[in-house]
Amino acid sequence: MSIKLGLIGTGPRGRVYANAIKEINEGLSEPRAEWLAICDIDADKRARFCETHELSGTQIEDAGDLLAMPDLDAVVICTPDHTHRDLAVMCYEHGKHVLVEKPVAVDPQGARDVCRAALDADKVLVSGFVLRFDPMAVKLREMVRGGAVGRLLGGTVHEAVGYHHGSTYFRRWHRLRKYSGDLLLHKGCHTLDLFNWITGVFPQRVAAFGGTEIFLPRSDAAMQCRDCSVEDCIYRVTPPEEEPAERSGSSGAGALPIDACVYNVDKDSTDTVFLSAEFDERVRLSYTMTLSHQHDQRRFNFIGTEGEIIAVMGRSEYTMELRHIPEEEPEIIPIERPEGGGHKLADVDLMSDFLDRIERGDDPEQGIRYAYHSGSVAFAAIDSIESGSIVQIEEL
Ligand SMILES: NC(=O)c1ccc[n+]([C@@H]2O[C@H](COP(=O)([O-])OP(=O)(O)OC[C@H]3O[C@@H](n4cnc5c(N)ncnc54)[C@H](O)[C@@H]3O)[C@@H](O)[C@H]2O)c1
Repeated sequence: MSIKLGLIGTGPRGRVYANAIKEINEGLSEPRAEWLAICDIDADKRARFCETHELSGTQIEDAGDLLAMPDLDAVVICTPDHTHRDLAVMCYEHGKHVLVEKPVAVDPQGARDVCRAALDADKVLVSGFVLRFDPMAVKLREMVRGGAVGRLLGGTVHEAVGYHHGSTYFRRWHRLRKYSGDLLLHKGCHTLDLFNWITGVFPQRVAAFGGTEIFLPRSDAAMQCRDCSVEDCIYRVTPPEEEPAERSGSSGAGALPIDACVYNVDKDSTDTVFLSAEFDERVRLSYTMTLSHQHDQRRFNFIGTEGEIIAVMGRSEYTMELRHIPEEEPEIIPIERPEGGGHKLADVDLMSDFLDRIERGDDPEQGIRYAYHSGSVAFAAIDSIESGSIVQIEEL
């Protein structure tokens, strides 16, 4: 019997899952999953979405009405980050399986609430950590857990965010902690989750330094590029005649014009973070997030008692090598980057994993612990930046 799904949130991320389900069902005599209902508080967006994706499910404004549908098995939550906690908890209270986009919640209590609600309901919790399905991440997990570098001492991880991509967050709801939790959480949780996922150990305490260093107010700049005389600004955009319908964060709370000034808009997210964290089994992490790079890249170095693995995961570079001691020469690990960057492939894998878990009736406990800790280093780091202390992480 096909799994009956409800979608909450018809922005760009909702579109990704509509496409994923279409791809998963392709060629099957009976669909593996189908959309029973589509929910969004924005009626125009919702209607446009259903038309574009040829979805005949019921259109709903209020998530409570969606959850009242008796045949509904599972819910996919693709709304802005600050809404995840309440929506996910409500889904569990109605006994549904949940795929909630990352981050699970924008504060530690919210993350605990969602994870505990999932445990109480004994239902699946999957969050949108697509990088786990990247072939390089799969290989790193196999090698690190398989002892390729001996006993793991720790890792250094640099989240290098392309300057253009990084600036777009400051033109959307993502720039405000009340909506995203901070960019360290919103963006960094993908990579921090990957560190947990690859190593299999969980964080205990964090010390961090950082703040808003790049997008500081500028008195010579206007509030929007269209009115601005700073010609050589690398973040200048020319607004299109019409606002693109599919732009992330283009409507609702925290929305801004496409050419809002990244320096002068209201914001409280960090754009620069350096942190150290200690994990179970004396594994340590040194992690950096900076936004002044040519392209997005994640640079990993896993160091053990017998050598290191150096891996660069990015669009312009996708390489991995093992430098085992006492050998002199590095061993190149051949990894093929998925065509188109891997997001699309991983999105389908992620949705398939969600359906697999529902079908198998998986014991969700371990998955829930990973979901909880996907945000725990970022939460502790934000606390540490503000308090100047080393912050202990509470277990679930
Ligand atoms: N896993 C990934 O790689 C990845 C990539 C991009 C975005 N995301 C996540 O996906 C989520 C959505 O991102 P987006 O860019 O599509 O956001 P968006 O702001 O563009 O769209 C969100 C949609 O949710 C609707 N909405 C808001 N509150 C609602 C509510 N209470 N009930 C019903 N509908 C509501 C809005 O009207 C809007 O249509 C975010 O949490 C984001 O962090 C994940």
